[in-house]
Formats: sequence, structure tokens, C-alpha cells
Amino acid sequence: MAVFETDITEYPLVSRGKVRDIYDIDENTLLLVTTDRISAFDVVMPDPIADKGKVLNQITLFWMDMMKDLVPNHIIATDVDDYPDPLRKYKNQLQDRSVLARKAKPLPIECIVRGFITGSGWSDYLKTGEVCGHKLPEGLKESEMLEKPLFTPSTKAELGLHDENITLSAAADLIGEEMMRRVEDLALSIYTRARDYAKKRGILIADTKFEFGIIDDELIFIDEALTPDSSRFWPEEGFEPGKSQPSFDKQYFRDWLIEIGFNKQPPAPHIPADIAERTRAKYLEAYKLLTGDDLKV
Ligand SMILES: Nc1ncnc2c1ncn2[C@@H]1O[C@H](COP(=O)(O)OP(=O)(O)OP(=O)(O)O)[C@@H](O)[C@H]1O
Ligand SMILES: [Mg+2]
Repeated sequence: MAVFETDITEYPLVSRGKVRDIYDIDENTLLLVTTDRISAFDVVMPDPIADKGKVLNQITLFWMDMMKDLVPNHIIATDVDDYPDPLRKYKNQLQDRSVLARKAKPLPIECIVRGFITGSGWSDYLKTGEVCGHKLPEGLKESEMLEKPLFTPSTKAELGLHDENITLSAAADLIGEEMMRRVEDLALSIYTRARDYAKKRGILIADTKFEFGIIDDELIFIDEALTPDSSRFWPEEGFEPGKSQPSFDKQYFRDWLIEIGFNKQPPAPHIPADIAERTRAKYLEAYKLLTGDDLKV
């Protein structure tokens, strides 16, 4: 069963993002539901990709568990049987695609790590030779691996605006120098471990975005982590600097939109059944490649 949008009436909806529906459970608790919505070129499509939300949610859980000796995370429960009573009747919508999480005070920056130069990092480098104040060697090619991964924070833009890359000192102004150094270290450690793991499975993690929050003065790993929505995953096979690289999950879908001449403005076209099914298969394949297991759907 695909879940395009949830409608849980017992709790207030605090936000409906492009992909996630978030409910306020109590003073200390959120319910984060990863739906099957798919966006491309920043536009949400009118049809779901069945099970995509499960794939994303389970990938986050996989990584958060792998990183738990580096940083505690916000997860309270992942099995609907352990959720508050009023949620249990939504089990078929929520199971495997939601988490009950401790509510944190999110830091006001996105903690981005780049191992390869692409996307907005590549644009900034072309203009200034720098990314977020990191001076880079001359003559880098698009998508080239960086000598060392870089911490390149950005602001969290208001709805509808794009996040903006900022220098480390601008990040320090927002969260304090000491906290900035802590999250820099942590983000680099998490990225490095994930990168090395994924590399063994033939996947390059080009860059990724983490979020951290504070609960009772403790730094906590929140939000989604190292998913195809928050990262760029490239197949190692065929990797070649000097051009942009295909993403290994959404590329097929984006190529279809380009082929039909989608102008990147809403309303987006309906997704034909065969395209939806192929896209779904790509997400399931990504899950299997990363974790080594079939997702139970
Ligand atoms: N444990 C937590 N405590 C408080 N806030 C959290 C927690 N985990 C995640 N969040 C917040 O939830 C929000 C998720 O909403 P977001 O708008 O990113 O949804 P989304 O569907 O991922 O949309 P988008 O594709 O635009 O990123 C983020 O702003 C994040 O800071
Ligand atoms: Mg998000």
C-alpha cells in the first residue's frame, strides 16, 4: 500500500514537508512519518512511489544505529505496537515508515559534508575557488574527489527559499565556536565511516546533510540520515570526474521527466504505472545494495 499523505486526527500536524509528515505527540515527542511522496527539481509529484518512504526510513535507522557510538540519536520507538495507544489503529500506514522521536531543539544550521565537488559546492568553487571559506586547489574537475572531506555548513532557509552555504565563522556566529567545532568533528566522523562502508558496496557518497539538535544540553542526531533524499549516492562503476554523475536511485525518474519535457514548474505530470514501478525497484535496489538485505514490504 502506498502512503501519499497521512491524516492522523488525534495529534496536531506540525509540518508537512516535501516527503515527511510530522506530528506533535507531546511536549517531548514527535512522530516522523516518511511518506511515499517523491519530489524532483524541487516539485512534489502528484503520485506516490510505493514503499519509497519505508526505504528512506529504514536507511536512516540503519545508519543511526551504525553511528550510535559516535552520537546518541532521537529514536524512541520504531514499532507501532510500542507507540501511544491512539496511533495503533494507523499501523498499516505507519509501520516501517515512521519513528517516534525525542523532540530536540534543532541547531539553526545544516551540517553538510562534501567528499566530492558537485552541486552548489561546484558552483561556488567555479565562482570563487572556495567552498564555505575552504580554499581549494586550482583546476579541480566537476565531481572530483576532494583530498579531504569538507564540512560546509548552510543556513536553514525559510519555506520556499534555498539554503545558503555559509563560512565556518558565520556558522560559529550562529551556534558558537565550540559547538561549531563539535558538529564539524562529528559530521566528518559520521561521513567518513559511512563513506568507507558504502565504498565497499560499490556506492560513492558524494555529499550529505546532517542535522543535530539539543536535548537537555546534550547533542543529538536528528532528522533523516544518509538517505538518497539527503545525500548524493553515485554508482562507483562508471564514475568519471569532469561531468555530473547520475544519482543511482532518482536518476531514472529525473531522466523520464526530462524526456517528457517537464518544465520543472508545478503542476507536475502524473506518473505512469511502469515508470512508478521501475522507480520503486530502484529504491528497493538501493536499500539492498546498502544494507545487504531485502526490505520486507
Ligand atoms: N528529533 C527532532 N526534534 C525536532 N525537530 C526535528 C527532529 N527530527 C527532525 N526534525 C525537524 O523536522 C523537519 C523535517 O521537515 P522537512 O521540512 O525537512 O521535511 P522533508 O519532508 O524532509 O522536506 P524537505 O524535502 O523539504 O527536506 C526538519 O526541519 C528537522 O529539523
Ligand atoms: Mg528534510
